[in-house]
Amino acid sequence: MTGAALPRFVTIVDVGPRDGLQNEKEPVAAAAKIELIHRLQDAGVREIEATSFVSPKWVPQMADALDVMAGIRRRQGVRYSVLTPNMKGWEAAQATKPDEIVVFGAASEAFSQKNINCSIDESIARFAPVVAAARAAGVKVRGAISCSVGCPYEGEIPPERVGRVARLMKEIGVQHVGVADTIGVGTPLKVRAAMLAALEHYPLAEVSGHFHDTYGQALSNIHECLQLGIHTFDASVSGLGGCPYAKGATGNVATEDVVYLLHGLGIETGIDLDKLIDAGDFIRRAIGKPNGSRVARALLAKRGVAIEAGCA
Ligand code: HMG
Ligand code: MG
Repeated sequence: MTGAALPRFVTIVDVGPRDGLQNEKEPVAAAAKIELIHRLQDAGVREIEATSFVSPKWVPQMADALDVMAGIRRRQGVRYSVLTPNMKGWEAAQATKPDEIVVFGAASEAFSQKNINCSIDESIARFAPVVAAARAAGVKVRGAISCSVGCPYEGEIPPERVGRVARLMKEIGVQHVGVADTIGVGTPLKVRAAMLAALEHYPLAEVSGHFHDTYGQALSNIHECLQLGIHTFDASVSGLGGCPYAKGATGNVATEDVVYLLHGLGIETGIDLDKLIDAGDFIRRAIGKPNGSRVARALLAKRGVAIEAGCA
């Protein structure tokens, strides 16, 4: 039964095609990324982070952004977002008609430098024209705040730093902020504090959680956020991923695991768990890596599907 304080419906943004695959060392064919997106939408996922318009020297895996966007068979009711760190990224992305763009900053100075090669204040100055151009074109703008609880270079990050970046993003017109635990070190009370800092500047509907699961805390952190009323979460099918600028960080929390938790709490997602598991199984076989979702592994085993060695 749903607890009174918990949301009745949660929106899942599957970031697998972007955050999940960006760190794969071996090239993943654009056709496989496109097929993954089609399978996600067939499973009922209504928000998909499709790709990034970033420097191919920095993130070679996303060099096929134009091909991916051109190859998607768009489904009505599904929103496709892309990352655009600067005007060059926006100009390339614009032609592909995304529903939403993502500017990505950080609550940690060191991570900002490593990830996007500029300070936090410089990043806001770079984002401002991107935000203005996107909004003028009627495209929604989300801002990601990386390292909102911990940084691989600076250690613990106090919530005031998250609040500051949220305020700066609000000032330049960013419409939604994603509070990200990039390296998955957060625990519920730290995550709560980071979320509350963002909620000082944005309403509940415009704050989402983005949790990597390095320390296995992501589901607990999501449950904590649900109690605050937060009802949008990023997740990555089969737990794909890792960040090129955060050594050792594992993928995002697996979408299957989040959906299982939410359905178990009586919260609707609009997602068909079985089809979602098929989507995760497809991409894991395509990249030749074991499935990172515990729920998927359990339910695939129940179906009698052979699971790759080394993943149990
Ligand atoms: P820079 O080197 O400072 O940029 O990189 P620049 O303006 O000096 O340009 C240098 C070269 O990059 C030039 O090419 C530009 O044309 C090119 P050259 O003349 O040397 O041949 N360039 C671009 N090419 C394609 N698309 C572009 C673009 N911009 C410049 N948009 C930049 C700055 C931000 C571009 C670079 O640092 C970069 O691409 N970084 C990649 C960062 C990234 O994608 N990180 C992973 C995603 S963020 C993430 O995963 C976190 C998140 O999931 C939340 C969380 O978990 O925390 C969102
Ligand atoms: Mg991430």
